[in-house]
Amino acid sequence: MLKTPPSELDYRQAVIDLKKIDPSPYQHRRHFDEDTLRELAVSIQREGLIEPIVIRPKRDRYELIAGERRFRAVREFTEMDTIQAQIVVASNLHARRISAAENLQREDLSAIETIEAIAEIVDAELMEDEEYAAMGNKPADRVKTLLGKLDPVRRSEELGYEVASEAKLTSNKFIGSVQEIFKNLSKPLKWLSFYLNDLPLLMDFCEEVQEVSIQHHLNKSQTRALAKLKEASEEEFQRILTPFCRVDHSTGRQDQTPGLSGFDQVDHDFHNINISDLSAREIEEIADNAAKKEALIERNRPRRSPSLSLEVKIVLMSRLGIPADRIAARLKVNRKTVLNYAHNPPLFQSIRELLEKGVCVPEVSEELGCPEPLIWSITLEGKSDQDRFESLNWGLRTWDHWYFNDVDYRFGDDWPGRIPAQLVGHTLFYFTQEGGLVFDPMAGGGVVADTCLAFNRRCWSFDLVDRPETRPEIEPFQWNPETLVWPVTGKEKPDLIFFDPPYFKKQETHYPQESISTLSRNKYLEFFKELFPLFREHAKAHARIAFLNADWREFQGVSATEEDPEQSIFLSDYIDLLKDSGWQLTHIVDCPLPTQRFLPNMVSRMHKNRTLGVVRRSLMIGRKK
Ligand SMILES: C[S@@+](CC[C@H](N)C(=O)[O-])C[C@H]1O[C@@H](n2cnc3c(N)ncnc32)[C@H](O)[C@@H]1O
Repeated sequence: MLKTPPSELDYRQAVIDLKKIDPSPYQHRRHFDEDTLRELAVSIQREGLIEPIVIRPKRDRYELIAGERRFRAVREFTEMDTIQAQIVVASNLHARRISAAENLQREDLSAIETIEAIAEIVDAELMEDEEYAAMGNKPADRVKTLLGKLDPVRRSEELGYEVASEAKLTSNKFIGSVQEIFKNLSKPLKWLSFYLNDLPLLMDFCEEVQEVSIQHHLNKSQTRALAKLKEASEEEFQRILTPFCRVDHSTGRQDQTPGLSGFDQVDHDFHNINISDLSAREIEEIADNAAKKEALIERNRPRRSPSLSLEVKIVLMSRLGIPADRIAARLKVNRKTVLNYAHNPPLFQSIRELLEKGVCVPEVSEELGCPEPLIWSITLEGKSDQDRFESLNWGLRTWDHWYFNDVDYRFGDDWPGRIPAQLVGHTLFYFTQEGGLVFDPMAGGGVVADTCLAFNRRCWSFDLVDRPETRPEIEPFQWNPETLVWPVTGKEKPDLIFFDPPYFKKQETHYPQESISTLSRNKYLEFFKELFPLFREHAKAHARIAFLNADWREFQGVSATEEDPEQSIFLSDYIDLLKDSGWQLTHIVDCPLPTQRFLPNMVSRMHKNRTLGVVRRSLMIGRKK
C-alpha cells in the first residue's frame, strides 16, 4: 500500500552531471560486485542507459533515489561525465519508498538483502505513524517490534483466549496496513511467515554471517546452516570460507585430531570450492560434524579434581546414596550437619539457576567448585537412559563389542588403568535400573561413581588409595587377602558389583605396595577364589557382577611359541572361579584395549620376534544364583 504511488509523482527527464549527484541515504545495499559493475558499464556504453536513474533535487544538487548500480557503473567504470536521469520532487518519505520498492525489484538480491529491503518498505510505509515510529531506532527493529506485537494477539485469538485491550488496540490499528503492504510486494508474502522465518536471519544472525551470505549470494537455508556452523565451531566456519583449504591428500582428511576418527570421515574436500557451491544440507552436515568434534575436544580436555568444600562433599556423597552415618564418619562431622546439607541443598538451587541461564556444565562446575559429574547428574535429571547417552554424545552399542577409542575425560581422574566411562555407562544401561545401588570395590580414579551420577544410580566405592579432599566418596579400604571382610555394615546390598581390579602384574609399579598386583600368580587367583563368594554373600538376590579383566600372558620379548602357559592366567580361569562361587555367567562382552599407544618401533620389534600381544579385555557378567 504505497500511500502516494511513485507513478503519481511528477517525473522529468534530464541529462545530469555525475558530479552533481549524491548517493541515496536510503540505500541499504551492502555489496556491489566489481566485475558485474564493469560488465554493466560495458553494456551501458554499447547500448546506452535503457532505464534512467531516478534523482530528486536537494538544495543546488541532486540526491539519488533509484539506480545505484547504474550510477556506480557509469561513474566508476566509464569515461562518461553525465547520466540520463528522471528528476522527481519527492519528500524524504517518498524518496525512501521509491528507493525501497526499486531495491526489492532487483533480481540479484541476496536473501539477507531481500529481507532488509522488505523491512525497509514496511518501515517507509508506516513511519508517519507516531506510535510506530517510537517502536525502535532502526527500520528492522521497528518492524520486528510491530510484528512481534501482532503475533501474540493472532495466536491468542486463534486459541480463543482473552486478549489485553491495549494489545488488541495496537493490533486493530496496524493489522490491515501490514497485510496490505505484504500483499502489494512485488512478490507477495504473508507477514507472519516473514516475521517467523525471514526476519530472524537479519536480527539474530551475527554480522559476519550476514556479510558472507550477501557476498556469496546464499539463500535462506544456506544462511541458516552457515549460522549454525559458526555457532558450532569458529574454526570450521573460517575454514570453509577459505577457498583453498588445507587438505591432506595422502589421507583425504583435514585437521587430523587424535581420537576423532568417525567424525572426520565425512568431511568435504573444500579444495577450490566456494561456499555458495555447497547446499544447505552439506553446510549443515559440516556444522553437525564440527559440533561433534568440539564436543569431543571438550570431553577430552584433561581435568583436575578440585578440593571440595564440606557442603559439596556432603551433597556429592548423599547423591551417590552413601548413608548419613558413613558420610559423617568419613568427613568427621556430626550426622545433623550431614542431614542439613543432604536434605536441603541450596547448592542445587545455584546449579539449576546457572544451567537454566544456559551456562555449560564445565563452567558451572568451575564456578561452584563442584565436580563435573555432579553437575551432569542434575543436568540429566528426569531423562531416560537413552537420552543420557545422547546428551553425553556417546553412541549406544547394540552388540557385545564395546570398543572405545579413548577414555572420557569428564568422568574419572587420571589414573593408571583408568577405564572409559562409556564402558561403565553401557554396563549400567544393560544391567541396572535407575536408583539401583552399584558397588565398586577397587575404584581407582572414580570413573564408576562419576558415571553413576550421570545415570542416576547410587554408588559405593572403595580403594586402597585415600583422597579425602578430592574424592571423599571413595572410602579407603584394603581387601586384605589374609582376612577378607565386607567393608560396610547395614542391611543394604548392591544390585551390581562393578569390579575392575589390577590385571595381575599389569601396572604393578603404579599401584601401592598393598595392591593385589604384588601377589604371586597362585595367591592372586586364591584372592579371587575367596573374594567372589564374599561378594555373592553380600549382594542382593539376583544381583549382577561385572568383572573386567584380560588374559595375562608373559608375551613381552618372546615369540608366541616360547610363552610359558603355566605362568598365564586366562579369562577361563576367572570364569571357573566365578562359577564355583555361585555366580552364573550370563554374558561376555569384548572391551578391547585401544592399540594407538603402541609405538611403531615397538610393533616392528614384536613382528620381528613373532610376539603375540594382548589387547583383548573382557567384561564378564555373572548373576547371583
Ligand atoms: C584397575 S584400577 C581401577 C581403575 C578404575 N576402574 C578407574 O577407571 O579409574 C585398580 C585399583 O585397585 C586398587 N587396589 C589394588 N589392590 C587393592 C586392594 N587389595 N584393596 C583395595 N584396592 C586395591 C588400586 O589402588 C587401583 O586403584
